[in-house]
Amino acid sequence: MIRVALSASGAVMTCWTRKSKILITCPKGISPWLAGEIRALGFPVLVEAEAAVETEGTLADTMPLNLHLRTGHRVLYAVADFQAENPQDLYGGLRDIPWEEILFERGEHAYLSITSTADTPSINDTRFVNQKAKDAIVDRMQERCGLRPDSGPDRNRAVVHVFWRESAVSIYLDTSGEPLSRRSYRKIPLSAPMQETLAAAVILATGWNGRSGFVNPMCGSGTLAIEAALFAQGRAPGLLRSNYGLMHLRGFDPAAWRAARAQAHEAQRETAARIIATDIDPRAVAAARQNARTAGVEERIEFAVCPFQETPVPERGGVVILNPPYGERTGDISTLTGLYREIGDFFKKRCGGYRGYIFTGNTALGKQVGLRTKRRIPFYNGELECRLLEYELYEGSRRTEQEHGGGRRPPDGGHGE
Ligand SMILES: C[S@@+](CC[C@H](N)C(=O)[O-])C[C@H]1O[C@@H](n2cnc3c(N)ncnc32)[C@H](O)[C@@H]1O
Repeated sequence: MIRVALSASGAVMTCWTRKSKILITCPKGISPWLAGEIRALGFPVLVEAEAAVETEGTLADTMPLNLHLRTGHRVLYAVADFQAENPQDLYGGLRDIPWEEILFERGEHAYLSITSTADTPSINDTRFVNQKAKDAIVDRMQERCGLRPDSGPDRNRAVVHVFWRESAVSIYLDTSGEPLSRRSYRKIPLSAPMQETLAAAVILATGWNGRSGFVNPMCGSGTLAIEAALFAQGRAPGLLRSNYGLMHLRGFDPAAWRAARAQAHEAQRETAARIIATDIDPRAVAAARQNARTAGVEERIEFAVCPFQETPVPERGGVVILNPPYGERTGDISTLTGLYREIGDFFKKRCGGYRGYIFTGNTALGKQVGLRTKRRIPFYNGELECRLLEYELYEGSRRTEQEHGGGRRPPDGGHGE
């Protein structure tokens, strides 16, 4: 029995104004930070899973979610739930949905992409799910309005997501299209860049207040510093992008979209925070600077080419954070042992009054720092388990937590030592 969130007729208006389930996916392990962001935008958190948070709202509500979220990947608006034991049931359930009233603005090139997650006995390849779903949608549209949309892997127009576990199927409109982690500023990636959404979650985990110092030696392609600059200015990362899946749905209102973007622009603020990014590799600094320029924050970041020990550290305190190499090849380890020890010395000698952080995928190397960790916050970089190690770096007259912003636990207090 199909339960479609939309009425069979007038689905367009219903979609944009009627509340439904909204599932927002994220990298594994950062859902507590995503849940905090969703609440801060005024939406309820209904379910918090390892790599997704469920909230609710209208299709119009997906506009601010797409524009403002720093740690989310895809904003998925639910259109239907039904039961399917096999591919034929899936086809039937999808064909019952009034796609001709949901997809594509009139006159635009009708191009559709299907993505899926399937964990059900009759399926061992999600490509088959995508094919079946595409057939159902295209057959329905051809039958009802004579239009046969093209389809393919490009997620730059309408995107439909199929979630199928056991016999339960949920169908979503992917209002993001391309994942939100693709902010479009990283034109020059270097080796081992941090994903933008992960960098944003790491910054939220430090509890940096966006006003004190943010010092990032070993900046690589600059992701942490750029995300810090966007955060400090209250700049919605979604403003960097101009195309979203939601713009290719029937009934999309350009005026409402312009208003949502204007509101996001108005929310920006001035900040006097000093953000410093350095790297020993001149190519890394050149790439970071170029990426910052593309993101519109080049003026907010002070760049320098230098060994990490020579990074300028302003007086006022704040956050100092490094993402050092953590050695994929065993031969690297002895060199890296020395490097991590030197980071400990740098923290002790140069960073008094700061909170120090090291993001690493190698806990054994983390132990070489030689300082007592205050917290060890778990993260994943793809499938690799990583840690954000936190150190309280005292100085003679220790500044107050308030002044520094205070290291923050996830809203549920779940991450920790
Ligand atoms: C894992 S990458 C950082 C990636 C970065 N988080 C990003 O998103 O692109 C490590 C960086 O440390 C830099 N590095 C290694 N040894 C260094 C040293 N002794 N002093 C300064 N930078 C160093 C490398 O040049 C490289 O860019």
